Amino acid sequence: MQKKNIFPSSHPLVAHKLTKLRDKNTEPKKFRELIREISALLTYEATQDLALEHVSINTPLAAIEGTTLAQKIGLVPILRAGLGMVEGAWELMPSAEVWHIGLYRDEQTLMPVEYYNKLPVEPTVSVCLILDPMLATGGSAVATVDMLKEWGVRMIKFVGLIAAPEGISKLHENHPDVPIYIAAIDEHLNDVGYIVPGLGDAGDRQYGTA
Ligand code: PRP
Ligand code: URA
Repeated sequence: MQKKNIFPSSHPLVAHKLTKLRDKNTEPKKFRELIREISALLTYEATQDLALEHVSINTPLAAIEGTTLAQKIGLVPILRAGLGMVEGAWELMPSAEVWHIGLYRDEQTLMPVEYYNKLPVEPTVSVCLILDPMLATGGSAVATVDMLKEWGVRMIKFVGLIAAPEGISKLHENHPDVPIYIAAIDEHLNDVGYIVPGLGDAGDRQYGTA
């Protein structure tokens, strides 16, 4: 597996919260809270190289040169499971635009099927953070990066909770320029495309639809 452009978190809070998230006894309400909290921590890690520009402001005491974010940022949750990550990322970047992408995996082929995409013709942001808890085969992530590049966005990052080695390889092969920020890298995919040990179905566990 390629090691470049993959950033597994080493933060103890992320590890602690991820263990609670994986626990099969964690109820949907707690599960949603944990997704939101871990997403905020991962967003902090994923945004450390954002560009800044100078701005002149006045404090109550003096005029100073400060800095402000130079680029417009888009959060791109992949429905459904990625939706639960938006609030955590938004807590850190409340001005970020949110552009939803609807994809589901066909249960037989495991290929992503698109059902929602309302991106306007011209890009409105210059940096996109794709939000999806699970990077399994990598099909959904690759399809979303394809759409965002087609839209015209050049700086794209994937932020997720658990990745399988298969998904990392697929995203790297198709889009080596897209860094992956992730809470954990698990062992493998099982024969129906679920990450092992993983956390089960991230959408069903958030929405109580298992
Ligand atoms: C899950 C997950 C990812 C996708 C990952 O979504 O949230 O979007 O599977 O799998 P992949 O890497 O093999 O493409 P799912 O299709 O279950 O839809 P849901 O979020 O609506 O439950
Ligand atoms: N989608 C999930 O929700 N969980 C997995 O393990 C794989 C894909």
